Amino acid sequence: MNNSPHETACGTETPRLSKGMALLAGIAFLFLFFLFSCDYGQGIVYAAEPEKPESDKNQPGQQGNAGIPEQKMDNINTFDAGDFENPENCGGCHRDIYAAWSKSKHRFAWEDPFYQPDYLKASHETDGFTDVFCGECHAPIARRTGQLPPPDGSLFDETSKKGVSCDFCHTVKAVVEPVNVQNISDPGRVKRGPRGDGRSPYHDVQFSEIHTDAAFCGACHNVVHPVSGAIVIDTYSDWKEGPYGAKGTRCQDCHMTPGPGVEKNPGKSSFMGKEREHVATHFFPGGSAFFQEREGNDAEAALARRMLQAAAELEIETTAMDGKTALLVRVKNVGAGHKIPTGVTYIRKMWLEVTATDDAGNAVFTSGHTADNNHVDPETVFYQTVFKDADGNLTPKSWLAEEVAYDRRIPAKGHDEQTFVIPVTADGGHRVTVRLMYRSMSQAAADEIGIEGLMVPGIEMARAELTLN
Ligand code: HEC
Ligand code: HEC
Ligand code: HEC
Ligand code: HEC
Ligand code: HEC
Repeated sequence: MNNSPHETACGTETPRLSKGMALLAGIAFLFLFFLFSCDYGQGIVYAAEPEKPESDKNQPGQQGNAGIPEQKMDNINTFDAGDFENPENCGGCHRDIYAAWSKSKHRFAWEDPFYQPDYLKASHETDGFTDVFCGECHAPIARRTGQLPPPDGSLFDETSKKGVSCDFCHTVKAVVEPVNVQNISDPGRVKRGPRGDGRSPYHDVQFSEIHTDAAFCGACHNVVHPVSGAIVIDTYSDWKEGPYGAKGTRCQDCHMTPGPGVEKNPGKSSFMGKEREHVATHFFPGGSAFFQEREGNDAEAALARRMLQAAAELEIETTAMDGKTALLVRVKNVGAGHKIPTGVTYIRKMWLEVTATDDAGNAVFTSGHTADNNHVDPETVFYQTVFKDADGNLTPKSWLAEEVAYDRRIPAKGHDEQTFVIPVTADGGHRVTVRLMYRSMSQAAADEIGIEGLMVPGIEMARAELTLN
């Protein structure tokens, strides 16, 4: 089935059924619309809060990993506060790396203005059951040094507030399984990295194979719901099964380089360091142009836009059909090593915006346009995932995910096709514009998570235009 979810005027997301299945679709659509429409997010009945088993409570010395087998990762207080170093200790020598990382999403993994409300809502709705789990990736140092819970971060020291930082990544000794951070940390004098041949007066260096492997990233960029087993984030496993994984083009090759089309960053990684052909960059660009704009980081926002634009291309083909025109839109994933979109695709979304205008510039056909309340028109082709909760209701809340109910995304080096029927002849001189749009957060998710007054802009990833004649 060719389903994709959509956003309705009342801020809900309901399944959209392929046009080819007219009758069946009509019936199913009515049924689904009845089930999910304006109730979603308002009259929704949430699954009973999970009973917190005694052994999962965060008592000293006990495992607090919500269902992940013991021994596979560090305990919640294997380490003491201060065992991991403050990134500022590294910044004095590793200046460029520190400057880039300081503006990265890794730096803001905990303080992130989109993460915090979602995380606090999860904590509230599950009576704290999710605190330690979310902290695994978003506050990995706090989580390993007994500073989480309480969920509000009031016990965090300065290092813990800085999210995924230098000394967390560079003291990882092993990744047991690349999912749900099954890492073994070994903080201390030895800093592990991709070389091992440098000399630092401040620390020892050690070559570490795992740091050169995509599985290092996969430890966090692969998330499975610890209770239901629903796939929450699949970036790593998707990459591994796809063409870039097969070829061995790692996450590091696209996300630790200067940007699309520029593979090398020659120079020194540190004051007193050796000259290198390529020094791994640490901004980790992705799709977060909106976040960077809000932070006032113009260069970083521009880089995130370039990443989004490098990912996709659009093609249009037209066929005349009895006074109308069939417009075949092909969306190609030409630059991302994984599906687009990827990551938290239950919050983010991509969609097709189509406009056909006559000579005078009046629209004769539109799809995927944005209304005054910033919601995208319901009759739109969306690329994203949507969860179903235990009661079968659609939800953007990852902690309620029982299964992925809808998944329409474009695989690496693959494409998706959609036909639009435009009510004008194929030689009437009409102008057609198709845009592939991206949002860091769907407006429905922003509203539901309760981010006060957040108007999430649409960012253009690709555009194609033609005149019908
Ligand atoms: C006094 C300066 C100094 C400080 C402070 C410092 N480093 Fe380094 N570090 C170096 C030098 C010099 C090298 C070698 C660079 C080279 O020759 O390529 C290095 C190399 C590294 C490497 C590369 C390891 C490899 O061989 O692959 C990592 C990782 C690293 N440092 C992490 C850190 C972290 C994390 C901190 C903070 C906790 C830190 N450094 C603080 C000077 C420093
Ligand atoms: C999300 C994990 C992560 C964080 C956070 C991180 N690094 Fe790295 N770093 C890596 C990985 C992975 C590599 C190896 C990349 C590769 O193999 O291409 C690396 C490489 C390095 C290198 C070697 C660069 C080279 O090419 O010679 C240094 C030095 C370094 N990091 C220091 C730091 C410092 C200092 C910080 C904090 C300001 C930091 N890192 C934050 C994951 C991280
Ligand atoms: C300790 C867990 C962890 C590790 C290891 C990790 N990441 Fe991340 N990464 C995160 C989290 C959490 C976020 C999201 C932070 C936020 O926005 O709240 C993130 C965000 C990102 C983004 C999104 C940036 C954007 O603009 O939206 C990219 C790209 C990324 N990571 C790449 C990598 C790569 C490449 C590696 C391996 C070298 C890696 N990460 C290793 C946890 C991790
Ligand atoms: C061939 C280059 C390439 C490879 C390999 C690659 N990526 Fe990406 N990645 C991209 C591009 C281009 C984008 C921007 C498009 C987008 O955001 O979907 C992106 C986006 C992302 C984002 C941001 C998604 C969002 O919209 O929030 C994350 C997170 C990410 N990549 C992580 C990874 C991880 C982890 C790996 C390895 C398992 C990886 N990438 C491998 C090119 C690559
Ligand atoms: C195993 C690692 C891991 C765990 C556990 C985890 N996350 Fe994340 N989270 C990530 C990664 C990686 C990203 C970035 C993906 C992307 O850019 O699309 C992310 C991004 C997010 C974002 C989007 C932030 C933004 O900037 O838009 C939210 C919200 C979020 N997570 C909430 C949560 C909540 C709530 C929990 C606990 C219920 C949780 N996460 C648990 C790895 C994790």
